[in-house]
Amino acid sequence: MSKNQKIATVFGGTGFVGTQVVRELASRGIIVKIATRVPERAYFLKPCGAVGQIVPYACSYSDPKSIAAAVSGADYVVNCVGILYEKGKKRTFQKAHVDTPEVVAKACKKAGVKRVVHISALGIEDCGSKYAKSKLAGERALLKAFPAATILRPSVIFGEGDKFFNMFAGLAEILPMLPLIGGGKTKFQPVYVGDVADAVVTALEGSSVGYDDLQGQIYELGGPDVVSFKEIYEILFAQTGRTRMLINLPFCIAKIEAAFMSLLPNPPLTPDQVESLKSDVVVGAKANCLDDLGLRATSMDMILPTYLARYRPGGRFGDQRDQAA
Ligand SMILES: NC(=O)c1ccc[n+]([C@@H]2O[C@H](COP(=O)([O-])OP(=O)(O)OC[C@H]3O[C@@H](n4cnc5c(N)ncnc54)[C@H](OP(=O)(O)O)[C@@H]3O)[C@@H](O)[C@H]2O)c1
Repeated sequence: MSKNQKIATVFGGTGFVGTQVVRELASRGIIVKIATRVPERAYFLKPCGAVGQIVPYACSYSDPKSIAAAVSGADYVVNCVGILYEKGKKRTFQKAHVDTPEVVAKACKKAGVKRVVHISALGIEDCGSKYAKSKLAGERALLKAFPAATILRPSVIFGEGDKFFNMFAGLAEILPMLPLIGGGKTKFQPVYVGDVADAVVTALEGSSVGYDDLQGQIYELGGPDVVSFKEIYEILFAQTGRTRMLINLPFCIAKIEAAFMSLLPNPPLTPDQVESLKSDVVVGAKANCLDDLGLRATSMDMILPTYLARYRPGGRFGDQRDQAA
């Protein structure tokens, strides 16, 4: 380790976004401590860096001492912890989205961490879901404890391993029809996970944007295209070569169905997520965005074929096989 080598602690570094953030930090020669509840889950990231550069670190997100130890010695801290649904008394939005960021921010302040970036979510100010309210409360708690932090609010994120596009592409493989919740009118601005990771690193390291400009700022991250839920299905059908009938499902009916799904160990849809679908998830007209970080958003056309082709009938080479037959 050289004297100038920076150290970053990434909370939730084993997740979809966290993994990409770890890769991006490692590619810049930064030592990455992956603070995770299960260090074994972070081992697959070790080849992203030189020997000793990627350090899985056992951390209990509910224990302030454990969090303090995780940020000790770090120049940068990134919080990628988040959940989509609650389960029992342990897995709650309050703990994951409010308490953890607050404790992380307090620990960072005490440890003299230089830069903190927190991943929040887009559209949370106008949304009535419990998820959104907890994300907003978490932002406020974090900024109160560490006012110089930078908040990133992504729209729905796409990329290899995402939950959104992969889930619907998977459902289209097994179901003859798909639900068009609330008529499919909700608008999204899908953003590429690589762009989110670039935004994190820019918010940490500065580059074209000075540190002073980044402090305490909120950036809304969206891609180049604004699309409705129905249009997302159409994009998926084009990418996977599987067209399915779309059944209009009013929000109230979708909530009842989602209530039953919530009983599953890993529910694909909850009533709270149906509530989220009542609000658009697009970048505000006056918001700071990727452009303001000096970054250009990647389009879905560039990326979706690289990981959705496997859902095509016969797989990636299915069409060629049909032609040969
Ligand atoms: N994916 C999207 O489309 C999207 C869109 C907008 C905003 N976001 C936000 O971006 C952040 C990262 O999302 P992601 O898609 O990467 O999520 P993810 O893949 O589910 O990973 C999130 C991380 O949260 C931690 N976690 C999971 N369950 C937990 C629990 N019960 N209690 C505490 N921590 C738990 C895990 O860390 P360990 O297992 O390593 O401890 C996991 O690595 C989240 O804050 C999310 O709200 C995501």
